[in-house]
Amino acid sequence: MNKLFYGDNLTIMRKMPPQSVDLIYLDPPFNSNRSYNLLYKNTTGLPIPEQIEAFCDTWELDYEKSELAYNIPHIMREYGMNADVMHFWHYMVEALKSANTRLLAYLVYMTVRLIEMHRVLKPTGSLYLHCDPTASHYLKTILDGIFGFDNFRNEIVWCYKSRPQSKRYFGKKHDVILFYSKNDAYYFDWQSVARPLSDATIKKYRLSDSDGRLYRLEGRGIKGSPIQSAKDVDQKWEETNPELVVRDYLDEKRGVALEDWWEIDIINQSAKERLGYPTQKPLALLERIIKASSKENDVVFDPFCGCGTTVEAAIRNNRRWMGCDIAIHSIRLIQDTRIKKYSLEEGKDYTIEGIPQSAEQAQYLFEQDPFQFQHWAIEKTGGFCSNKKTGDGGIDGRIYFEAANKLCSMVLSVKGGNVKPADVRDLRGVLEREADAELAGFISLHEPTKAMRQEADGAGFYEYQGTEYPRLQLLTVRELFEGKLWHCPSIVRTKRKDGGQAYLSI
Ligand SMILES: C[S@@+](CC[C@H](N)C(=O)[O-])C[C@H]1O[C@@H](n2cnc3c(N)ncnc32)[C@H](O)[C@@H]1O
Repeated sequence: MNKLFYGDNLTIMRKMPPQSVDLIYLDPPFNSNRSYNLLYKNTTGLPIPEQIEAFCDTWELDYEKSELAYNIPHIMREYGMNADVMHFWHYMVEALKSANTRLLAYLVYMTVRLIEMHRVLKPTGSLYLHCDPTASHYLKTILDGIFGFDNFRNEIVWCYKSRPQSKRYFGKKHDVILFYSKNDAYYFDWQSVARPLSDATIKKYRLSDSDGRLYRLEGRGIKGSPIQSAKDVDQKWEETNPELVVRDYLDEKRGVALEDWWEIDIINQSAKERLGYPTQKPLALLERIIKASSKENDVVFDPFCGCGTTVEAAIRNNRRWMGCDIAIHSIRLIQDTRIKKYSLEEGKDYTIEGIPQSAEQAQYLFEQDPFQFQHWAIEKTGGFCSNKKTGDGGIDGRIYFEAANKLCSMVLSVKGGNVKPADVRDLRGVLEREADAELAGFISLHEPTKAMRQEADGAGFYEYQGTEYPRLQLLTVRELFEGKLWHCPSIVRTKRKDGGQAYLSI
């Protein structure tokens, strides 16, 4: 069954059986120290100060002191890789330790994941790693180690035109896609992506047989023959020396095999396929990879699926698919756009894993990853998450609503573990402090105590058009599943910047 996974791909891949995937395409964050935000306009036209951070590619060596952090060679040894590769990485790590720990953190992060990808690939499978020139040379040596030098197939250069010009260096207008196969018996169909013959070439097929089939007459390549491998030889050779010539029929031609540099336009502002997700890749790029390196019904896996370009390319080409992303809005976006477009039904055509469907599953998500739990809970109530992992002065997210022609906000706090009155008191403090917040919402996994409810009640009411709204509201995860929501004036729904449908589902 086709699958979308919400979560860290490392955890997900570790649960996948070995040799279960035919093709992997991955487009991980690039180590370029950037945050990618999703920009919204909303139904009021008033600006929303926070925009959702789609994902961040800033790498920190959290576990800087730990042995493992510097131990790419150790990770490689565990996976049974060649000693020379390990020696190479031993010195590389030594060099990077003092020079660039951020890069080192990124490479550790990639190594453990690439090892899992190699494990889940079938023997006939291939992997395409999409990266940019800032880290491609390091990633290539890691892939050489994991897949073996012999299984490197191509460094594909994807060239595009429509980015701003630089005056300080040549315009950076290409990405690198590293193509490796699991071994030599890999599947590859060059014909499915061949470039059609040019008109000039087609015109050269001037001769026609008794059935009307067009052909060119060529020398058969026989050594010593006066026409050896000559093209378009005189037809008289067919009568006098048929053994020296061969017909090259136009209808047997499958086009010209592609080179390893591809010119495909990036998705520009007005492109029809644009979903507004930062770093979205063109469908044409993914379709080319999928057609060349998989057959119908094969399983295509994208562990960093973003807004699901790979998923759509797989659907269009009758492949089975699996996509994984750590950002909840990526999964929602794929569901609400790509999957909807092909009228696929959840449960029948595909499943979603990792998004809690019950309070127990929400508890499980919290235990696995508190930050992801927080994102999920805020998104479920229709809010925007704070961009900072540690929260933003006690605010984990916000809901916006419209009152008196103003964009007003409700500040949100999420607690997964045990809760106590002080948590609610803190949020009340935040509400008093934040001049632009009229309401506050506290989401908890566990039931609030009586003292917590009293603390919330103490915050009083916000009145708008004759209705009283409790200023500090409590909502449990159980209530969320029962469909209970915040009590506030009309919540401002978001629209994608390109005018498409909102995909923050409530
Ligand atoms: C460069 S984008 C991919 C864009 C995608 N190719 C497309 O066309 O939409 C990288 C994605 O990786 C996701 N991501 C980052 N770390 C992840 C992880 N550990 N597990 C799963 N997804 C992750 C980010 O949320 C982001 O959506």
